[in-house]
Amino acid sequence: ASTLGAAAAQSGRYFGTAISANKLGDSQYTTIANREFNMITAENEMKIDATEPNQGQFNFTNADRIYNWAVQNGKQVRGHTLAWYSQQPGWMQSLSGSALRQAMINHINGVMAHYKGKIPYWDVVNEAFDDNTGGRRDSNLQRTGNDWIEVAFRTARAADPDAKLCYNDYNIDNWTWAKTQGVYNMVRDFKSRGVPIDCVGLQGHFNSGSAYNSNFRTTISSFAALGVDVAITELDVEGASATTYANIVNDCLAVARCVGITVWGVRDSDSWRSYQNPLLFDGNGNKKAAYTAVLNAL
Ligand code: XIL
Repeated sequence: ASTLGAAAAQSGRYFGTAISANKLGDSQYTTIANREFNMITAENEMKIDATEPNQGQFNFTNADRIYNWAVQNGKQVRGHTLAWYSQQPGWMQSLSGSALRQAMINHINGVMAHYKGKIPYWDVVNEAFDDNTGGRRDSNLQRTGNDWIEVAFRTARAADPDAKLCYNDYNIDNWTWAKTQGVYNMVRDFKSRGVPIDCVGLQGHFNSGSAYNSNFRTTISSFAALGVDVAITELDVEGASATTYANIVNDCLAVARCVGITVWGVRDSDSWRSYQNPLLFDGNGNKKAAYTAVLNAL
């Protein structure tokens, strides 16, 4: 195969990218994205502040621009994200207690209803664990009660029974880290108690502070052994080492339930960490060595 998406499809997987609505008019950007990728994540447009800017008033203008571009070009869309401490609209930041809990439930219902039956994977809850302790991250959502995550998942299951429901986080790539173990224990607990969870998203933001480690494969296979799909959802690698990118692809391919890989942007210049040159295409749209390494590994 000569593109990332087609190469991933040879093993029944997908290869995706994050897309920004405000770049859909950039023909170099859309040409590369359309050619190479078959799964699309909205980089910001499906987040809480974008989809419910005023409480109870949903706005899917930019989310739908990305959704429609993807579907018109034969691609699927990962939903990102429904319950998160960050990128909350101001009205939500000022809520607490039962009012916030109900607002979270209403938000999940409102967004999932709009896309019912159209989104194969939803990141229901994003980044709910503390970076160091292995416990929960302190946030307004966490302060509504420790059961907020399972409430979010149960709400999501009822809202769209056909969507696979994911927990997504960063720095849960290294199997030895407390945060990884904290999320693993939550997923194991959810599976044992019948809380609906279908997948874990490993964001995969690798840099000098959280470097790729070869125990990544153990992390993927350990989550998969709990009975969930695993996806690499926001991959970028500081410096874009071709060897590291190939190792990551091989780690996913080694686990049957690793269903796909998404890189967090098209060109280095599109990256939220553009100074790290972490992606597969340079700022001129040229394929980097990491691109070739990924294509050959798939
Ligand atoms: C980032 C976007 O790339 C930026 O454009 C935005 O300013 C902040 O959010 N984890 C996530 C993503 O789940 O939603 C984040 O995306 C990167 C970290």
